Amino acid sequence: MVQVRETVLADWQALRDIRLQALRDAPYAFGSTYADQVKFGEADWRQRITRGGTFLAYLPEVSVSEPAGMAGGYQEAPGTVELISMFIRPRARGRGVGEALIGAVIGWALARDATSVHLWVTETNSHALRLYQRCGFTVTAERQPLPSAPALGEIGMTRPLAPPGPGQGGPGQGGPGQGGPGQG
Ligand SMILES: CC(C)(COP(=O)(O)OP(=O)(O)OC[C@H]1O[C@@H](n2cnc3c(N)ncnc32)[C@H](O)[C@@H]1OP(=O)(O)O)[C@@H](O)C(=O)NCCC(=O)NCCS
Repeated sequence: MVQVRETVLADWQALRDIRLQALRDAPYAFGSTYADQVKFGEADWRQRITRGGTFLAYLPEVSVSEPAGMAGGYQEAPGTVELISMFIRPRARGRGVGEALIGAVIGWALARDATSVHLWVTETNSHALRLYQRCGFTVTAERQPLPSAPALGEIGMTRPLAPPGPGQGGPGQGGPGQGGPGQG
């Protein structure tokens, strides 16, 4: 069963290790590069933890100590949370870790009264596109070059968040697959 928790400052080394693996293994998926972030020191990783919500996911049946995946959210424009840095270690894929991380970022966004979650995905990244569509994100008209490899294009995706109604309101409300108008 997937367990997700928000990082605290003491997690900076675990965050560094999985983030650097992500940038090394899947450079096509991220706007930043391994070459840039391998130079980060402790203060940079700690600052990354405080700038928004950063989540680590664990799959105890795979490893109790090493995170299976990560994702983050930060407040972009008022009302909009940007979902970033989604990565699942290869041996943990296909087990619902991505959905659980998206649920955590959505919960974090709802707690900040956000009305939508937005993200950028490389147009050729079919696994990620399918994951996001499964979780209620729809493709927008936005296109931009991937900052780390401008020959690749990125697509904007968005998912509206329904505010909790009367008698509702746990973090699961508005979670993945509970679509609203943007359900894909
Ligand atoms: C995109 C990503 C997060 C999806 O992970 P996930 O949600 O666990 O994967 P899914 O549940 O969609 O996987 C479904 C199947 O595809 C496989 N799969 C998923 N991603 C794969 C990949 N990049 N390469 C090969 N196979 C992959 C899974 O093993 C699974 O196979 P199974 O059904 O035979 O078990 C993950 O592939 C990943 O971390 N990719 C690299 C980083 C990335 O692209 N991040 C997105 C940035 S926008």
